Amino acid sequence: MDKVKIFKIYDDKQKLLRTTLDEVTLPLDAKTRQTIIDMVDYLKASQDEDFQKAHPNIRAGIGLSANQIGINKRFFAIYMLDEDGNEIKYGLVNPKIIKNSLRKCALRSGEGCLSVKNDRHGYVYRYAKITLRAFDVFENKVIDIKAEGYLAIALQHELDHLNGVLYYDHINKYNPEEIIDNSYLIG
Ligand code: NI
Repeated sequence: MDKVKIFKIYDDKQKLLRTTLDEVTLPLDAKTRQTIIDMVDYLKASQDEDFQKAHPNIRAGIGLSANQIGINKRFFAIYMLDEDGNEIKYGLVNPKIIKNSLRKCALRSGEGCLSVKNDRHGYVYRYAKITLRAFDVFENKVIDIKAEGYLAIALQHELDHLNGVLYYDHINKYNPEEIIDNSYLIG
């Protein structure tokens, strides 16, 4: 694996994690574009076994938002593999949900976040299907992403970061495993 930029990850005690971030002016400047690509590469590396052995203190992640690396701008990176092992990677700027299902879903095992040291158990209900519109650095244009299930959850988790929201804000603290109407669990 090529040399990867190692980011210092801000934790949830930092004010920037609780800040609504600023819109990015397009066209994208070269520096921001490179940062987003570096974020995707970082996520990919974090999931690599050899990289993990060499960097035992770096946690594996599938999503990373600008404020998690100390930047007040509305962008985030996603890197994951789908069920068939195909790469899903996005570097998304100024994302917006333009369509969503009424149905919700949540991960049975709960969510995790690179900025939250100890995982908090509980169901985080999110739209089961969304259409997200954003500028993508790899396509170099505004795209609509139709996502469902795990990817839809990941995109909404990252979009929340841009609004200063953390996954555990959504957990019902009186009943973390609450089952809500018109929803299903994944995994
Ligand atoms: Ni997160």
